[in-house]
Amino acid sequence: MSKKVLVTGGAGYIGSHTIVELSKAGYKPVILDDFRNSDESVLKGLRGIIGRDIELLKGDVSNTALIQSYLRKEAVCGIIHFAANKAVGESVEKPLLYYQNNVEGLVSILKAASEEQNIPFVFSSSCTVYGEPKGQKEVSEQTAKTIPTSPYGFTKWLGEQIIEDLFHSNNQLRLMSLRYFNPIGAHESALIGELPIGKPNNLLPFITQTAAGIHEKLKIFGADYPTVDGTCVRDYIHVVDLAEAHVKALEFLLKQQSGCHEVVNIGTGKGSSVLEVVHAFEKVNNMALNYEFAPNRPGDVIEIYANVDYAEALLGWQAKRSINDAVRDAWRWEQSIRAKE
Ligand code: WQD
Repeated sequence: MSKKVLVTGGAGYIGSHTIVELSKAGYKPVILDDFRNSDESVLKGLRGIIGRDIELLKGDVSNTALIQSYLRKEAVCGIIHFAANKAVGESVEKPLLYYQNNVEGLVSILKAASEEQNIPFVFSSSCTVYGEPKGQKEVSEQTAKTIPTSPYGFTKWLGEQIIEDLFHSNNQLRLMSLRYFNPIGAHESALIGELPIGKPNNLLPFITQTAAGIHEKLKIFGADYPTVDGTCVRDYIHVVDLAEAHVKALEFLLKQQSGCHEVVNIGTGKGSSVLEVVHAFEKVNNMALNYEFAPNRPGDVIEIYANVDYAEALLGWQAKRSINDAVRDAWRWEQSIRAKE
């Protein structure tokens, strides 16, 4: 069996960390990326960790012909599809960009994976498909999905539906959607990590950039929510744990003798508030972070974290790293970026 795995968006944050874990597990990852939302410097970081160049197919995931011609030439044992835009706020400002890239891109790669061959397929979905779980802070795969409030979240909701409908049309396919919670942190080598282009949307890069002096202070959006300390609660998962989950997902699909379609939560099973993350960052990295409380951010879910029983039962996977590991690795990565400036 070929050990080649086509990883769309493989130069991105989660994609690049998954490239490392696939290599460690003996696979030969191939990056499909057009670097619209990532930097080619990632390739150097990957070479530093893995010790060799990673095969690159430079192009747009919506270019079905490019992918089909590659797959006719090269035997590939699996496809992991990350390539998408993922900023909730940006998606509200630019909905057409998100619907075109995220939905068209998914249809394109699914056609390439399923029309001429039956290549096991892992989809990068998101806990945003749950929206604000009505009074149910912990969500399992059985928790009802709600139509997400952002175009980003809706592209993931629709993406899962597309995959489900595809499976109903051909139940020999092997398909899996992984619902990520909040990925944070970086590889321990500090050679790869989250590289937000422009002002970050997410909490951790904003924390590390504030600590690095790029921003004067962190704004904590909301302090009067009905939570442990008034700030929003999320399930923050170390990006390397998330990457390892993708290897487990691929290996599950490769073991199947017939078709399957699975949807799996990938989180730690534990909720942490914004303030708890900030305090962990301060304690682990021995510094005081400059922050202030600001008005609630529209569209924010108050509290959500994963029930991860199914990931353990189906994939034999569970998160191993803590919030402290993640905030330590995130800061080391931030310092390594600044050292190169
Ligand atoms: C987390 C908390 C903010 C920035 C993310 C991704 C999305 C999806 C789900 C994978 C919220 C607060 C943030 C800041 C703050 N992941 N915050 N100050 O909104 O849960 O969505 O996870 O698909 O792609 O965007 O993550 O990091 O933006 O916010 O107070 O400067 O941190 O209000 O409560 P979110 P986030």
